[in-house]
Amino acid sequence: MRSARLVAALVLGQLALPAAAQPAGAQPALVEQGRYLAVAGDCAGCHGESFKGGEPVATPIGAIHASNITPDRATGIGSWSLGQFSDALRKGRAPEGHLYPAMPYTSYTGLSDIEVQALYSYFMLGVKAVSNRPLANDLPFPFIRAAMAPWDLLFLTEGKPTGAATVHGEQQLRGRLLVETLGHCSACHSPRGTMMQERADRHLAGAMVAGWWAPNITADATGIGGWSDKKLATFLATGHSDLGVAAGEMATVVSRSLSKLVPGDIDAIVAYLRAVPKMVSPKLLRAATVTVSPLDIAAIEQPTELSAWQTQLGHGTRQGDVLYQSACASCHGADGNGSAGLVHPSLHLIDSDSTANAATLVQVIAHGVDRTVGARHTFMPPFRSDLDDGQIASLANFVRTEFGGVGSVLTDADVAGILAGKSATPWLIRYAGPLVIAAIVILVLGLFLLAWKVARSFTRRPARK
Ligand code: HEC
Ligand code: HEC
Ligand code: HEC
Repeated sequence: MRSARLVAALVLGQLALPAAAQPAGAQPALVEQGRYLAVAGDCAGCHGESFKGGEPVATPIGAIHASNITPDRATGIGSWSLGQFSDALRKGRAPEGHLYPAMPYTSYTGLSDIEVQALYSYFMLGVKAVSNRPLANDLPFPFIRAAMAPWDLLFLTEGKPTGAATVHGEQQLRGRLLVETLGHCSACHSPRGTMMQERADRHLAGAMVAGWWAPNITADATGIGGWSDKKLATFLATGHSDLGVAAGEMATVVSRSLSKLVPGDIDAIVAYLRAVPKMVSPKLLRAATVTVSPLDIAAIEQPTELSAWQTQLGHGTRQGDVLYQSACASCHGADGNGSAGLVHPSLHLIDSDSTANAATLVQVIAHGVDRTVGARHTFMPPFRSDLDDGQIASLANFVRTEFGGVGSVLTDADVAGILAGKSATPWLIRYAGPLVIAAIVILVLGLFLLAWKVARSFTRRPARK
């Protein structure tokens, strides 16, 4: 019934399309196109697998909940017109007011009319209606929705995602849609300015995301310049390569979204990333020759069971090499060379132990790897409950100096700081971090604007005589 009515609505011009352009037979194709775009846009990442609305997420300014975007008429977007849907996606404007930029509309603004129509068809016809009313996002003053209007004025260029590069040819054009618009890669990989906006001048140059380091993904040598196209494509499609693995936020991006794209689209992403202006980021380049100091292995019997090392140590040792041999060597090898076939990566190659920012290494030691891509499950155990901050620091310093080939002097406090970033909120804090300052600046700016307008209207009056 419902979908019959909706098909009728779509065909009869509520879509603001000439009826002739929407023959009933074309619907499944449009819905399917919309489904694919929703996967590439990772809508489920925030709105949930069923799109019924995200879990409440605590941010410094209050909880932000992703809306119910199923076609339920009472609690979802079932009664929305195409125009309203389009405004929410491309202008950050919903019928109830401005959306918070936790919804990445500064990226989705690059969607074309037909892509918006396809997404609309999918959400109206291809998604099951679920009745669920996420808590309202009425944030306390000054974070009212109206404060987003001047923010949009400053940071939203309708039709052009922040930092989108000039492209040549069809493949790069497709890649730009997948990276800048749908994939909203910059939401994590670009650092933010004081008003929480993505910094266009440091586009994709690397940023902290909830305690993880989302690396520089431009083609500079300090970014992914050293990765071959094939390695990059494999990483994006599977989350694994010998230079880097997806363990944190990127693991969910890969398993929910990128791994479900057709190979041609992965190649398009790679082609576009090569076209993005290169950014230099701090990177400690590996020393040409890594001198591995003799490891004190003899002192400890190589444990066969993972749990055995705990009983063997358990004295609160702070020696990185001892900890490594006990906890890590069984998989990554005593010399850090990894296992055959590199299921357990070689720590001499992996990027995350030689970058200037040690956050990802610390997070991986604490939280492990738990990634499912298709039928394949990749697992490294978490060590958070077995090791204290000081032990994680010594271990990370050892891995970085011995295998990463870079100097490293992490302290307990550094580790505590990194891990606190992760535990605070899984999703939205990255968008809300500087919002406190942002809102105040926005307000002051708004007042200036107002004062300027008033002043101008006064100075103009005499001129009219
Ligand atoms: C990074 C997280 C995130 C992603 C990814 C995301 N959204 Fe959202 N979306 C949100 C949040 C948070 C809100 C609520 C914002 C608010 O209340 O101001 C929202 C609001 C919306 C709304 C407005 C709903 C309403 O009732 O006002 C629509 C429509 C929407 N999203 C559609 C989508 C679609 C379609 C996609 C995928 C193409 C998507 N979103 C991807 C976080 C996200
Ligand atoms: C939700 C945040 C988020 C989004 C969105 C995101 N990434 Fe990432 N990405 C990360 C983080 C964090 C890492 C660090 C590794 C990890 O999470 O395990 C990473 C790692 C990577 C790496 C590995 C780089 C290296 O040197 O090891 C590449 C390549 C990459 N991302 C590409 C992309 C592309 C392309 C997109 C968009 C299609 C994207 N990412 C979207 C957070 C994100
Ligand atoms: C039971 C086996 C096992 C043990 C024990 C283990 N690892 Fe891992 N490690 C893995 C696997 C599997 C991966 C991920 C491979 C992938 O993602 O494809 C991994 C990945 C990594 C990475 C790459 C992470 C990234 O995001 O770049 C680092 C670094 C690492 N391990 C360090 C360690 C350290 C340090 C220890 C000891 C505290 C340790 N591992 C213990 C199996 C293990």
